[in-house]
Amino acid sequence: MNTLSQEKLNEIRNSVDIVDVVSNYVSLTPRGKNFFGVCPFHDDNNPSMSVSQAKQMYRCFSCGATGSVFHFIRDYENISFSEAVKKVAEIGGVKVDIRSDKKIKNNIEYHEIYSLSLKYYMNNLNSKSGKEAREYLNNRNIDDTTIKEFQIGLSLDKRNSLSNLLIKKFKEKDILDSALVGKNDYGMYDFFQERIMFPLYDLNGKVVAYSGRIYNKEDSAKYFNTRETEVFKKGELLYNYHRARNVARMKNKIIIVEGFMDVIRMHTIGVKNVIAMMGTAVTDKQAHLIKRMAKEVILCFDGDSAGAKATKSCIDELSKIDVIPKVVRLEDKLDPDEYILKYGKDKFLRKIDNPINVIDFELSYYKEGKDLNSAEDKTLYIKQIIDEINKIDDEILKEVTIKKIVDETEIDESLIRSRIKKKTKKAKRDVINKLSKYEKAEKNLIYFMLKSDDVIKMYDKKVTFMPDSEYRLLAREISAYYHEYGFINEVDFMDYALTDDEFKQTLKKVNQNNKREEFTFEEIDDYINVIKEFNVNKAIKRMQKEIKDLTDPLEKAKIAQKIIELKKGV
Ligand code: GTP
Ligand code: MN
Repeated sequence: MNTLSQEKLNEIRNSVDIVDVVSNYVSLTPRGKNFFGVCPFHDDNNPSMSVSQAKQMYRCFSCGATGSVFHFIRDYENISFSEAVKKVAEIGGVKVDIRSDKKIKNNIEYHEIYSLSLKYYMNNLNSKSGKEAREYLNNRNIDDTTIKEFQIGLSLDKRNSLSNLLIKKFKEKDILDSALVGKNDYGMYDFFQERIMFPLYDLNGKVVAYSGRIYNKEDSAKYFNTRETEVFKKGELLYNYHRARNVARMKNKIIIVEGFMDVIRMHTIGVKNVIAMMGTAVTDKQAHLIKRMAKEVILCFDGDSAGAKATKSCIDELSKIDVIPKVVRLEDKLDPDEYILKYGKDKFLRKIDNPINVIDFELSYYKEGKDLNSAEDKTLYIKQIIDEINKIDDEILKEVTIKKIVDETEIDESLIRSRIKKKTKKAKRDVINKLSKYEKAEKNLIYFMLKSDDVIKMYDKKVTFMPDSEYRLLAREISAYYHEYGFINEVDFMDYALTDDEFKQTLKKVNQNNKREEFTFEEIDDYINVIKEFNVNKAIKRMQKEIKDLTDPLEKAKIAQKIIELKKGV
């Protein structure tokens, strides 16, 4: 929940008009009472997002994203709720005392420590002690402009030069929390010593960590990263995201590479819609960030076999959320940095402009290290490819791929076809319908609870228990809100509760494919009865189980009677 009072939040929210604010990000067209635009929170070309001036809310009819101006900014800019509130307050000219927010206060210290360390490291590189490091960078063809743009610096061959500097300005605890300095029996010491410092940024471009590279000696770790902190979570960031985001949106294309050196090199040849994974597997959070950046996603990992493996795992993670990337494979085991230096800009750009599709990549990926003349290898290969074909939705691509492996392996086409699953749209739809009776009731009930005090009253009186815990919690929260304030105002409630990530997901589901404003009380009664029926059925099942375990006929009869009564009630 928020640290700011509801009154303060309302004041800030009312200082701006959501339509003005959203128009800065999405082009809106008036239609009827509302404004419409393409929803930035899911992949779409249709104007499914409506913005209501009267309610000061937005709502996407397709993905269900909804909230007030705060949530829009929070989710569009990938910042925290508090930061979004601060932004809106700035736009509206409302003063907020963010110092009352303890977590933000700590973050301020964190950011100041990083901003000082950044100046310090950058300065070192320009100093006399930076000569060798500068030579190293020059040898790698990284010029001064690039050094400045990527804020590359240097940590010195000294035990505590940064700590000495920081202790003059900051509290010891904050310094240790920054993860740049450690402490042992001999006092404080710098974590980074004698390394070229590459700042790592959060999604908004603030420096929140470093990766330090060796340059003048052997060491078991080529790169050494700041450990994870409250502010630096590797799995939630993407290197260069803040610089790449707008270019990627404009070109509707994002290129993903493994290392930040690859990003830096690509920038020097003008390719700016590029981000790096930094040697980790892509997480669900990162996959969603990528999906939001651009429609076309190109994986250009290192040309070695580790790179091929990473490509495959990235494809698998992205396809979970329906992002089908394209792939570029570089020859001679080179990474993009080395490739550009060896073959030049034009040849690299040609590679990037001619990516292969996922299935072609997979054909060669699974062929790697196999001898198709051996029966064993061939069998395995065919099985692996059939598995992949079964994941493809595109019927034409499916056909093309079948033809390809038939040609390649000379196996009987009908045998392969017999193993290909027929995915019908109908099957998918059935699953949704099957799920939906109770869920539909829960969703609709909550949807209208947010719009009417009367529905909340009905819920309070008649519903004791929602079947699914996520809806149950949300309904309870709405009811609690109503009892606290005496009335429901949807947008107020959202500002109150929607800082919670779980509520956000649930509300999205509630709003998905629902754009009704009107309801009847009969309809609400129906939803409530369906929910009751669920609970009764559950109770009956429990009792039936109980009966089975009982031996005493009298006890059995008692419970049987109860079941009959319950059944009557349905
Ligand atoms: P250069 O050797 O400087 O060209 O770097 P690179 O981009 O070729 O690095 P590489 O392909 O070996 O690794 C890709 C990414 O993985 C790097 O950008 C780092 O983020 C990460 N990485 C590589 N080596 C290490 C290491 O020793 N420790 C840690 N923590 N990360 C590493
Ligand atoms: Mn490299």
